[in-house]
Amino acid sequence: MAGVLEGILTSPIGRKVTAKAGLAEPPRLRRGRVMPAGSVALATLPGGGIAGQVLDALGISPVEPLLDLPEHRTDDEKGRPQPPRYETRPGALVVDATGVRDIAQLELLRQVLRPVMKALEKSGRIIFLATEADGVDGLEAKAAAQAIDGIMRTVGKELRGGSTANLVLLAPGVVPADLASTLSFLLEGRSAFVSGQAWRVAPRKDAHDGSVSAQPFADRIVVVTGAARGIGAAIARTFHRDGARLVVVDVPAAGEGLAKVANELRGSALQLDITAPDAGARIADHVARVHGPDARIWAMVHNAGITRDRMLANLDEKTWASVLDVNLAAEMRINAVLLDHDRPGALAPDGRIVGVASTSGWAGNKGQSNYAASKAGVMGLVRAMADDLADGHVATNGVAPGFIETEMTGKIPYVQREVFRRVNSLSQGGQPVDVAETIAYLCDPASGGVDGQVIRVCGQNMVGR
Ligand SMILES: NC(=O)c1ccc[n+]([C@@H]2O[C@H](COP(=O)([O-])OP(=O)(O)OC[C@H]3O[C@@H](n4cnc5c(N)ncnc54)[C@H](O)[C@@H]3O)[C@@H](O)[C@H]2O)c1
Repeated sequence: MAGVLEGILTSPIGRKVTAKAGLAEPPRLRRGRVMPAGSVALATLPGGGIAGQVLDALGISPVEPLLDLPEHRTDDEKGRPQPPRYETRPGALVVDATGVRDIAQLELLRQVLRPVMKALEKSGRIIFLATEADGVDGLEAKAAAQAIDGIMRTVGKELRGGSTANLVLLAPGVVPADLASTLSFLLEGRSAFVSGQAWRVAPRKDAHDGSVSAQPFADRIVVVTGAARGIGAAIARTFHRDGARLVVVDVPAAGEGLAKVANELRGSALQLDITAPDAGARIADHVARVHGPDARIWAMVHNAGITRDRMLANLDEKTWASVLDVNLAAEMRINAVLLDHDRPGALAPDGRIVGVASTSGWAGNKGQSNYAASKAGVMGLVRAMADDLADGHVATNGVAPGFIETEMTGKIPYVQREVFRRVNSLSQGGQPVDVAETIAYLCDPASGGVDGQVIRVCGQNMVGR
């Protein structure tokens, strides 16, 4: 029945009906390593300056933004004063608000935002940089720093045409080289489905110079679990595009799909149930066997996950335990083994660990107490590990996908699926590659300043924060 309904609604006539009902075709998003077509405008508010240096390092020459000041306005045909108009559509606006310390200065954000809101090209970008509230002194400065977060989230909801807004929070001591990978990720199509998010960048502790490259993983080994299909296969393909040598892991029952992915990417396949007590040892042994005893894993991506949805009133201990074990406990056990850097085939001392959480872990979801527990647990784990490992150079982060078009979500009844797709600022479900791109950004050798962060890849889903 759901299939029949889907067929009708996606037919040419069905599309006309849904358009009339206000469900217009969602915008096509710019994806991949593609910069905006239009210019990048840069607004440096008083006390700022770092964004200009980062753009310079990325080889981008920004243009001056227009300002909504009374003397710049012109009346429309009905005599209403309008903000100044851009002659050609800008592709992005970068707002360097790192020097904002009082409430009056927030008006400067309004001035720079108003003219751009309707002018931005499709899949455009508004990127805010601010100093994190903990990094400024005084009540008003802390309140003003937090206010930028509220502005950014609202901008994300008001933008149209697949454009996004995000906020980069600078920890004390950050230099331009710490920010280059983050700014290039946000400007490029790689961040297509990331909007309404704020995350922190701190000074890098590793030896990398912070310069960005289109092949950041050349000769680096990346392990992806649950890689036989869906998001895991997309993660493996994205790392392959960016130069990595892949080890793809999945359960023996998914062996055929896994072999296909491994062959396509000239990687190696490891059939393994990650809940096996010796899973960590088997991953390290496999890496050492295939790549030699001195080889180390650059990035360990814990993507494998399952759902076993039941309302709590119907939830038995087996259904509870299976989800917690695959989605959370297995990840912890594997990390414990791989963090022994001296072990052949273990994680590199400056490597990356990424956990795949879910927006269900932020907001909770009816019938998903086990899944939400496991995914909130993943977020807690990556943050706690970043603290635990703060003296070393390993970075641990997470992504929290919202609604992504995969076999997992394909099982949701059509009407419910259509609702889930639409309840975000981009009015569509994300693609597996959107999650993959965000993970690849977090694992980029130039992203060492991003640690203990969880980035939602949800098109600014209305669910939860
Ligand atoms: N699809 C979404 O909308 C969505 C949203 C939020 C989070 N996620 C998370 O993203 C990840 C990937 O999701 P997906 O939609 O691609 O799911 P999927 O079901 O299509 O793929 C999951 C893969 O994990 C593998 N796997 C399951 N248990 C395993 C085990 N014990 N050992 C090894 N491999 C195992 C499966 O065989 C499968 O290939 C999961 O962690 C999921 O919870 C997905």
